[in-house]
Amino acid sequence: MDIHTNIPLKNYTTMRLGGNARFMTEVHTPQEVADVCRNAHAQSLPIFILGGGSNVIVRDEGFAGIVVRNRLTGFDIVSEEPSQTTIKIGAGENWDEVVKRTVDMNLSGIEAMSAIPGTAGAAPVQNVGAYGQEIADTLISLDAYDIQTDRFVTLQASDCGFSYRQSIFRSTSAERYVITSITLRLYKAAPQPPFYKDVQDYFDTNSITIFTPQAIRDAVIIIRTNKLPDPAVTPNTGSFFRNAVIEDWQLADLRKQYPDIPTYDMPDGRFKVPTGWLIEQTGFKGKTLHGMRVHDKNALVLINESAQSYADLAAARNEIIGAVRDQFRITIEQEPLEI
Ligand code: EPU
Repeated sequence: MDIHTNIPLKNYTTMRLGGNARFMTEVHTPQEVADVCRNAHAQSLPIFILGGGSNVIVRDEGFAGIVVRNRLTGFDIVSEEPSQTTIKIGAGENWDEVVKRTVDMNLSGIEAMSAIPGTAGAAPVQNVGAYGQEIADTLISLDAYDIQTDRFVTLQASDCGFSYRQSIFRSTSAERYVITSITLRLYKAAPQPPFYKDVQDYFDTNSITIFTPQAIRDAVIIIRTNKLPDPAVTPNTGSFFRNAVIEDWQLADLRKQYPDIPTYDMPDGRFKVPTGWLIEQTGFKGKTLHGMRVHDKNALVLINESAQSYADLAAARNEIIGAVRDQFRITIEQEPLEI
């Protein structure tokens, strides 16, 4: 296993900002994961597992530990039942290639999460979701190396603490587990309406009435291409903020001043307010601050146009958070992880 030193992380993250990793290596097998983690632990070196780098922001001081690039492969059918198929996927597999393979098998469950950049192993960390599906709905378990106990473990979905864009892997157990594979249960039945508004609008416009995983994948790819800049071409990390979650009394208060405020009901009785809408109201949509552009087609996305450093990004982020707080008394939160 080769270990490289002083590697610029901006070359490995889609925002293309920030400092160096002190060490960097790649792992291809669970055994290599354990070896790297044991060695790092013995030398008290912090470990960060990097997938596609499309949901990570790197600070200017870089990472004073070892960055481990997850290259674990695998796509194995674990069980086949009349109505569903269970598949185990290596954490280093490209997420969209996984979605494509399951759609080619005519399976439903992750097709609305087409064209999301990154790796399969990163999907549970932020409970990836899009167009009405989230990984928590189909993930039944995952295998991981537990750095704390030096053991391989299997965690059930109920152990993962999933909620909107959240899991134990980025909160209570951050830096404890290295995910080595995920196991998904996908359905053979055709996807059923109601579909997410943008998807239904696409079906209506194109007179599509037969709903297959492939039809949803095709629709989502077109919707995303129109709204979200390709991180391989334009530096960005998708949604830069989480959507805001507010209490009913806050919403009642805001409705007095903003009767048209869009909201989604949450299962716990609270309300999700699209942060893209909040930012748009502040007037920042399409504007550039400190070299960071607020995307003109979706104000939730920040594009690194000419920012020189993480400090520029942080200045832009803080101005946007401040403007939303001043106008709405809501504190919006950054979505990508930060190291
Ligand atoms: N909106 C605006 N102005 C904007 C952007 C959005 O008013 O500039 C409002 C509109 O009312 C729109 C609503 O926000 O109807 C929702 O917008 P959209 O459907 O585009 O979704 P989003 O809330 O911007 C979330 C996810 C996306 C995911 C889409 C579709 C988060 C943080 N983001 O975005 O995920 O693709 O829904 O499900 O939850 C990502 O995480 O990187 C990501 C792209």
